Amino acid sequence: MAKPKRIGVLTSGGDCAGLNAVLRAVVLRAAGHYGWDVIGIRNGTAGLLERPVEADILQMEPGLFDGTLLRRGGTILGTTNKGDPFDYPLPDGRRVDRSAEVIEGYRRLGLDALIGIGGDGSQAILRRLARQGGIDLVTIPKTIDNDLGHTELSIGYSSAVSVATDALDHLQPTAASHSRVMVLEVMGRDAGHIAIAAGIAGGADVILIPELPYSLEGLAAKIEQLKAGGRNFALVVVAEAVKTEKGEAVKQTQASGGVNYGGIGHYLAARIAETTGSETRVTVLGHLQRGGQPSDRDRLMASIFGMHAVDLIAAGCFDRMVAWSGRTVVDIPIAEAIAGYKAVDLDGPLVHTARGLGIYLGEFAA
Ligand code: F6P
Repeated sequence: MAKPKRIGVLTSGGDCAGLNAVLRAVVLRAAGHYGWDVIGIRNGTAGLLERPVEADILQMEPGLFDGTLLRRGGTILGTTNKGDPFDYPLPDGRRVDRSAEVIEGYRRLGLDALIGIGGDGSQAILRRLARQGGIDLVTIPKTIDNDLGHTELSIGYSSAVSVATDALDHLQPTAASHSRVMVLEVMGRDAGHIAIAAGIAGGADVILIPELPYSLEGLAAKIEQLKAGGRNFALVVVAEAVKTEKGEAVKQTQASGGVNYGGIGHYLAARIAETTGSETRVTVLGHLQRGGQPSDRDRLMASIFGMHAVDLIAAGCFDRMVAWSGRTVVDIPIAEAIAGYKAVDLDGPLVHTARGLGIYLGEFAA
């Protein structure tokens, strides 16, 4: 009989709903089924920089997942979307390469393999570490932005779409009661996947995504058309990366010096008020899209992905990302997975449907 393995697991990048459900599946399969040791590494690769590295790990047993964790947002391991070990920020502002320390931490834990749960940026870092340090790595895609090519779904996306759809359900009655145009700004980084899916599901009249240019005239014309038809309200969904009509991205600088998208909703609401005379209000959904209970879809994908990742390790298959494709779970080389960025498909069914329903999506070439 093969010697039981000792594997590590970490969550990396921005959190999302469904991460604890992935951890649960990994532990139930690896510890519960194969009888392996599962070591939870805290705060992404930062946990491997701790010394002694054993002091801050989480020994993960199936019993840990008996209760609420399947249903709970966030990640019990913690995570970070800063602190790239190859370009690690020091308090004095300098940046240093700490990759060798991370690899040394991994070695000290005596691990046979590592499961990394992350988006494209995290997976690129983990793969670089794996190649440099000879780490047997398997990755699981997670990002509310759903922008990883080669997987139809990433963990967190479905829950984020549910939250945004729910927000539209809450906004519609108050919009109708006060005869207002409600602007809902959603996340998605450079892609409009959350905006278009939630916009269709939530009955939006206007959906603006970064993949398509829009004009204020076109947007105003849609609102005037609704008014002319007797409608007293409108719902506008805008993805955070949509630019102003001058082509400028709207961003916020954080205390860390990092820059995030944010603010296009307020910009648009002001322009809509100016051009149509409508009373507008803005909701910036922000991190509500990341922290809540995972949707049934995310829990299901988490269970499937977590189990498949462990089975890949059992089969000795490494440097692979699990993915969902053609209604089944598959795995592909990590390099291929992170190279394949996925924007909203302008010839795809969602764009086709939105246009067919009369939603203003922006300007299409004639
Ligand atoms: O990539 C996930 C995401 O939530 C984006 O949609 C958003 O632009 C960004 O992360 C926000 O990051 P932070 O957690 O740093 O606010």
